Amino acid sequence: MISNIDSRREGSKLSIVGAGAVGSSLAYAAMIEGVARHIVLEDINGPKVRAEALDLIHGGQFVPEALIEGSDDVDSTADSDVVVITAGAKQQPGQSRLDLAGSTVKLMQNILPPLVERSPDAIFLMVTNPVDVTTQAALKISGLPPSRLFGSGTVLDSSRLRQLIAETCAVATGNVHAYMCGEHGDSETPMWSTASIGGVPILDWKFGNGKCFTGEKLDEMSQRVVNAAYEVIEGKGATNFAIGVSSCRIIKAILRDERAVLPVSRMLTNWHGIGGVCMSVPTIVGARGAVRQLELEVSESELSQLRASADQIRETATSLGY
Ligand code: LAC
Repeated sequence: MISNIDSRREGSKLSIVGAGAVGSSLAYAAMIEGVARHIVLEDINGPKVRAEALDLIHGGQFVPEALIEGSDDVDSTADSDVVVITAGAKQQPGQSRLDLAGSTVKLMQNILPPLVERSPDAIFLMVTNPVDVTTQAALKISGLPPSRLFGSGTVLDSSRLRQLIAETCAVATGNVHAYMCGEHGDSETPMWSTASIGGVPILDWKFGNGKCFTGEKLDEMSQRVVNAAYEVIEGKGATNFAIGVSSCRIIKAILRDERAVLPVSRMLTNWHGIGGVCMSVPTIVGARGAVRQLELEVSESELSQLRASADQIRETATSLGY
């Protein structure tokens, strides 16, 4: 174990399982944001996880005070407030997220029970892809309620969508409200009918006298979001920074009990008639986890795309016995 602590101190504890590109970037984001007093990075690769932790610890002077620990011992995660799972196989160029389902689910069967045993009261955030299927399997494996175990879902995809809209309209990304919903993957879909900029519906946004967003433009933006990760993976082999900061956003909502509306992947029971599947819709997230899914108004075509996305996730999860 490598750490800058000699004993447990007061404050929230965040454990990140998996010190690959995603886990390490998340730890870095969490350290810079000061979301937790105690951050544990855990991985089976001892030398790698200790080195990642050391590298973070060395920046201590410049970031909010935090206790940082790197360990290959699952005991180091004990009594966490939030446990994030990023461990899993890496998506290779040309592979879809769903191609990783079999190996990821097997991994969850091994790593989850000891983590839940050591932090029985924690909120569990799943990040490993395919995140919706992983979350669905992890719910059954852990026996935790859906409010306390959910996935990072389309929080990142929604950020990608908002960034594209903001760039097109030359407004701040923070003033755009728009959600990608459904699978964090190829079948995800934008909720155009409720998207807005500063209260103005996107579909009414004008350039001069004409409408800014034609059907063609909307389709193009949607495709760019769906293909965003492929584009990054093609160029650098993995995505890590944006998933790191977006996962950190979710953790902050939990640890500060923000009750923020975030499109996390949580089990749906009867959302516009969709149930028995984990996928993303806008959800209120706070200290008790993902507590309530919003009954967002959706058009007929949006709903049929969401149903298709649910079927896609359910099919993969069922084929793996979940
Ligand atoms: C992405 C990975 C996290 O979309 O699936 O960047």
